[in-house]
Amino acid sequence: MAEKQVLLTGDRPTGKLHIGHYVGSLKNRVAMQNSGDYEPFIMIADKQAFTDNARDPEKIHNSLLEVALDYLAVGIDPSKSTIFVQSAVPELSELTEYFLNLVSIARLQRNPTVKTEIQQKGFGESIPAGFFIYPVSQAADIALFKGQVVPVGDDQEPMLEQTRELVRTFNNYYGEGILVEPQGVFPPKGQGRIPGLDGNAKMSKSLNNAIYLSDDEDTLWTKVKSMYTDPEHIRVEDPGHVEGNMVFTYLDIFDKDTEKVAELKAQYQAGGLGDMKIKKYLFEVLNAELAPMRERRAKYAEDKDAVLQMLRDGSDKARAKAQETMNEVRNAMGIQYWG
Ligand code: TRP
Repeated sequence: MAEKQVLLTGDRPTGKLHIGHYVGSLKNRVAMQNSGDYEPFIMIADKQAFTDNARDPEKIHNSLLEVALDYLAVGIDPSKSTIFVQSAVPELSELTEYFLNLVSIARLQRNPTVKTEIQQKGFGESIPAGFFIYPVSQAADIALFKGQVVPVGDDQEPMLEQTRELVRTFNNYYGEGILVEPQGVFPPKGQGRIPGLDGNAKMSKSLNNAIYLSDDEDTLWTKVKSMYTDPEHIRVEDPGHVEGNMVFTYLDIFDKDTEKVAELKAQYQAGGLGDMKIKKYLFEVLNAELAPMRERRAKYAEDKDAVLQMLRDGSDKARAKAQETMNEVRNAMGIQYWG
């Protein structure tokens, strides 16, 4: 039997996860876990969360359990995947420090994801140094686990490119074959990016336009009702636009019945199909997907101590693996001076 490929991925705990996270990466992670072809490590990146939330330790602390519950809710199964906490593996910081010598400041400045985030977060001239170098720490996350496949959202491709460069340089300086170049696994084209309820390109907590995996039915319906559709579609009999109409954008992503969606689109464009009707339909589609997650979440949430214990066990296992690689790294670098 071929050896299983190591899957390494994670999320910053800065709030609950939403359906954008689900289509962007969680869906792939669950499918890959269940395929049995991988050895998955899934990291709650609390250390990385501090790079842009240093003043809000409470948010990070509280989000840790929420993200863990979201993982369990979507079907990450601790008997198949190792869920662990980044700060519980200090070797990650150690490798980050060595990696920092293998990349130039100019190269970091060119990372398009970091560039965009710096603008979005309004750092101006006061970019935290830790934030600026987080792609290096992310590369260490992947490399220390010898992660071969990394299921993430499309915006993470530059991180993987940077990781491959760092791994190549490391192996070139200290020994071929020590670290492994990873490949990203991205969502199917057109399915991985879900705009906000208001039509904003990005679904996010700060824009208050997200549907959370943990939203209850009433909240879901209130949110779907508020969705941006077609401002020119005033009366039911008016012809409506489906492009830029969030209800149809979401249906394209979530409804497996593509014929039905095509039919609804045609009706809507011809006139005679009301917003309330399509919103009710979308609600049913979304709720069918979210209801089982809600149930699983509620069950796990009953015993938070057990969830914490699961994270603790996962972190112990992850740390053991990280220490193995770190020993190889130290040997390769010639800094294993004794023993
Ligand atoms: N940058 C990712 C995010 O913001 C989280 C992350 C940290 C990650 N380390 C990683 C993802 C390693 C994949 C691999 O969600």
